[in-house]
Amino acid sequence: MFHNSNRLTILLVTLTISVEYSAAEYYTQEYVQQILNSAKKDKDWLVSVRRKIHETPELRFQEFKTSALVRSELDKLGISYEYPFAKTGLVAQIGSGSPPVVALRADMDALPLQELVEWEHKSKVDGIMHGCGHDAHTAMLLGAAKLLNERRDKLNGTVKLLFQPAEEGGAGASHMITEGALGAAEAIFGMHVDFESRTGSIASIAGPVLAAVSFFEAKIEGKGGHGAAPHNSIDPVLAASFAILALQQLISRETDPLHSQVLSVTFVRGGTALNVIPQYVEFGGTLRSLTTEGLHQLQQRVKEVIEGQATVHRCKAHVDMKEAEFPTYPACVNDERLHRHVERVGELLLGTENVKKAAKVMAGEDFAFYQEVIPGAMFQIGIRNEKVGSVHSPHSPYFFLDEDVLPIGAALHTAIAEVYLRDGKQSDL
Ligand code: NI
Repeated sequence: MFHNSNRLTILLVTLTISVEYSAAEYYTQEYVQQILNSAKKDKDWLVSVRRKIHETPELRFQEFKTSALVRSELDKLGISYEYPFAKTGLVAQIGSGSPPVVALRADMDALPLQELVEWEHKSKVDGIMHGCGHDAHTAMLLGAAKLLNERRDKLNGTVKLLFQPAEEGGAGASHMITEGALGAAEAIFGMHVDFESRTGSIASIAGPVLAAVSFFEAKIEGKGGHGAAPHNSIDPVLAASFAILALQQLISRETDPLHSQVLSVTFVRGGTALNVIPQYVEFGGTLRSLTTEGLHQLQQRVKEVIEGQATVHRCKAHVDMKEAEFPTYPACVNDERLHRHVERVGELLLGTENVKKAAKVMAGEDFAFYQEVIPGAMFQIGIRNEKVGSVHSPHSPYFFLDEDVLPIGAALHTAIAEVYLRDGKQSDL
């Protein structure tokens, strides 16, 4: 027995070493060069696809042409996919068809924004623009589809590529999930272009990285009257003023100072004349928190404070969280292991000096819905390049992309998925 268990130990040690070796074979310059070179060869195609999408931007859940373009490129590449998900979305699948399954995600929607950059491939649709780089996200994931398909025999499992609609306010990701887009995926990765990081670099962080987000509107109703006789009216302007001031105490007095939250009242509307107390006042804004639970508490207190202040001032309040129009987004929280995986693959492809710690921001991202279901990592991919003028923030009408990012993003997606499938189950990922 003793003898046998020794043999078993030796066998286990040998197995462990051989598993580590098979993972280690990816961490070589040869592998990196292969992926990067293949991606660079595809650059012209990636640029042309991205420009087509940029010229014909589509708003949330209207991404019909974009989706058709993605499907036609996948058809040409001989890659199978399922369609539709969430109206215009699709899921391509590459690999063995067996576990492990890893998912990569891109968003396809544009913004209600007039592009002010004058260039050959400017948006041809008035008032709609790819001002957040989702055209690049779609092209980079398509690039990864091509690279992964070329390497399909080497894949130790299955890659699902999610092309989703409606990231901008429509919670497209939650519809993708409801309709089964994740399938048996055990992990998901996504990237967003970042104008503050140089092209050729990425930034990632473990834990909360983007905020849980919701919106609200309030209507405070009083009794209108002449401004000269306030005692005959019930003044909603005063009630709204107290309510807005009281809302600003919520975060300073009720939230743990080490938790990040934002409450911004962004509009106030009421009255039209200088001598008339209006019947009602409306106001609204946005709530953000780096934890989903924190956002829910804030929503509850916003409602209580507005209703309470209205009552104190003899008014009635109605508070609407606008869920139907703007679904609440959870906080985007990166899984520690998957974040480390992104860093490690990033260092391999781009060099250690080009992998930075991402800054947390209070913007929202519907990738968070996937992370509520399976572990995920969302990271930033740099596009800053003064020479081409890609120095404007997303959602600016001057937003511009350094197209050199396209092959880099395609290569990163590819290596992140391929290496994950090879050693994803290992604890030292
Ligand atoms: Ni975006």
